[in-house]
Amino acid sequence: MPRYALLILPAFNRVYGESSIRLTRAELAVFSARALEGEILGSDETRIGGVPYVTFETSQPLSEPDVHLLSNLSSVYAVFGLEGDLLRPLGMRPRDRLSSDLITIQKYAGKTNEHFTKLLLNVTALAGDKGLGDGLQVFDPMCGRGTTLNQALMYGYDAYGLDVDGKDFEAYTGFIKTWLRNKRLKHTAEIVPVRRERALAGRRLNVTFGLSKEAVKAGDVQHLTVVNADTLKSREFFKPRSFDVLATDAPYGVQHGSKGGAGLSRSPLELLAKAVPGWAELLRPGGAMGIAWNTYGGKSEELARILTDAGLQVMDYPDFEHWVDQAIVRDIIVARRPA
Ligand SMILES: C[S@@+](CC[C@H](N)C(=O)[O-])C[C@H]1O[C@@H](n2cnc3c(N)ncnc32)[C@H](O)[C@@H]1O
Repeated sequence: MPRYALLILPAFNRVYGESSIRLTRAELAVFSARALEGEILGSDETRIGGVPYVTFETSQPLSEPDVHLLSNLSSVYAVFGLEGDLLRPLGMRPRDRLSSDLITIQKYAGKTNEHFTKLLLNVTALAGDKGLGDGLQVFDPMCGRGTTLNQALMYGYDAYGLDVDGKDFEAYTGFIKTWLRNKRLKHTAEIVPVRRERALAGRRLNVTFGLSKEAVKAGDVQHLTVVNADTLKSREFFKPRSFDVLATDAPYGVQHGSKGGAGLSRSPLELLAKAVPGWAELLRPGGAMGIAWNTYGGKSEELARILTDAGLQVMDYPDFEHWVDQAIVRDIIVARRPA
């Protein structure tokens, strides 16, 4: 059987410590089940030259497209073919099409770890019909300062976000405009008030950009839209069946609070129970919704129920639960809107 080894990013190891190998194996299993041409028959942790690798066997040699797909694993640093005890480097070709500082520059309390954000986006997109294909429309309905949006843009996708926090909206708007300018990317950016029956319902940032003047002329552009409003009003800002992927890191509860929304309780699950039905309508049939949440705020069965009641099919994605800090043990749940 062909054997392979993944070297994990040092930064991923630092954040997840003991969980990093398990999370990588869990993500790898989703890639295998949902996207690879070949099947991964099982993975393991193996020390080679004193360094830990995730090793795995496949039913058939990995094709070039398979290696390219695996280059997008959230923890991967390098992929090797294992030949005896020798490592042969395989040609990585991640989807990334923008400078990596788009994702790393912003630092602030409450930022969702960027590797975790990539993991959530990956496993959610892979549950949908288009997988990690081209041209996805990605929505984060509680986007904070845009970690999911930036990862979606990095992949070449259109990104849509919404957050109730005005400071987050301003910080992200300022950041992305400066970043586009500094990178000399051809773009337009405008902030417009959104009115409903003459009353101000929210603010909206609309950005369009391309990698070069020629690309923009040829229509090869990406769109970014961010709305400052309560997520329970998502339906007022976006049309039904607009998105292929909805991915969000929900408020953690007690410690970080779930802000906004008149009369909302501070329980993240209560917020999700109210928000998920509207979010589900924004998904295209065959699209997928992925939510990261603090398991201290509610059980996975409760969240599964909320998703199922909204007409979604919950995926069997085990082993993503991991310790974040004393108050947070985070997990991921992913569900599909039937095609
Ligand atoms: C865990 S944070 C997400 C952080 C984000 N992924 C980032 O990296 O910046 C949860 C977000 O949910 C937002 N939020 C909480 N309640 C909300 C509501 N009712 N409507 C919209 N956003 C809400 C908070 O403002 C916060 O930005």
